[in-house]
Amino acid sequence: MTLPLPDPMLPMRFRVVERFDEQPGVASLALVPVEDAMPLFRPGQFNMLYAFGIGEAAISISGDPHEHGWMVHTIREVGAVSRALARIHPGGMLGLRGPFGAHWPLRRQSGRHLLFVAGGLGLAPLRPAILQALREKTRYASLTLVCGARAPEQMLYRDEVDGWARQPGMDVLRIVDHANAGWTGRVGVVTTLLGAALGPHDPESVSAFVCGPEIMMRFTARDLAIAGVPGGRIWLSLERNMKCAIGRCGRCQWGPDFLCRDGPVLPYDRVARRLAIKEL
Ligand SMILES: Cc1cc2nc3c(=O)[nH]c(=O)nc-3n(C[C@H](O)[C@H](O)[C@H](O)COP(=O)(O)OP(=O)(O)OC[C@H]3O[C@@H](n4cnc5c(N)ncnc54)[C@H](O)[C@@H]3O)c2cc1C
Ligand code: FES
Repeated sequence: MTLPLPDPMLPMRFRVVERFDEQPGVASLALVPVEDAMPLFRPGQFNMLYAFGIGEAAISISGDPHEHGWMVHTIREVGAVSRALARIHPGGMLGLRGPFGAHWPLRRQSGRHLLFVAGGLGLAPLRPAILQALREKTRYASLTLVCGARAPEQMLYRDEVDGWARQPGMDVLRIVDHANAGWTGRVGVVTTLLGAALGPHDPESVSAFVCGPEIMMRFTARDLAIAGVPGGRIWLSLERNMKCAIGRCGRCQWGPDFLCRDGPVLPYDRVARRLAIKEL
């Protein structure tokens, strides 16, 4: 006898077991299912989180894919739903549907140089891929993370990124738009670090995973392609408002793609022309 598949439109109840203020207006929540089994996910996928009585929002999974005890999400308060979700304290409940969407195709990059480029909260959807890559370091030629933020205090997961920087085989380059008195690193936009990040590597053998504000992804992907990284080896995670998250309602349609189903992770060679069209 086969068990019926769970209804992808029906939220499961999850309890917040830990909450961490990452920075003002940004919190990470660790969640455990109340009745259901913990769903497995692949780095880059997202869940629809439901603040009871308020509404749902798409939120990337930002925890370790090998940690099956809880599911982690990092949420920035921008509107009613995200504000309600980010303020749920341990013991509180929310609804969760997922995981949905395409993942970062990490495992298909064996032997290549992996370059992660994150802008601001874009580090959240990349974090599961970075944790997986660190765990499987010997599969890859090298690992580099380029990390940008508006200001030093807005660098996400600061202590953890410091820990990654100390790991052998992982290079971390950081940059901020606006420095403060204690900042001794670089000032500017992430694209200014791409030359150093590509460094000695043959660009043909680099696979890049980029996530951040759309303008940052557009310029980063463009500069990587100009430097010789193949367009089919640069992946971006694209955001559009979502409703059903299962490719039915059309809310997230972007050209020929439904971003909930065909994305959010898509290769640059497929999206480059669309990215250049304003307000598509
Ligand atoms: C695949 C996917 C993954 C996502 N992952 C995350 C995540 O990990 N963490 C997270 O916090 N959010 C994430 N988002 C964004 C989140 O789903 C939206 O911000 C959502 O609209 C929040 O709902 P809301 O009701 O709180 O705000 P809304 O009422 O929808 O928006 C309020 C205001 O904020 C603006 N706004 C909406 N989204 C953003 C944004 N991303 N940046 C700046 N301004 C915005 C809107 O234009 C509007 O003016 C993701 C979205 C997608 C599609
Ligand atoms: S959100 Fe409904 S089709 Fe993508």
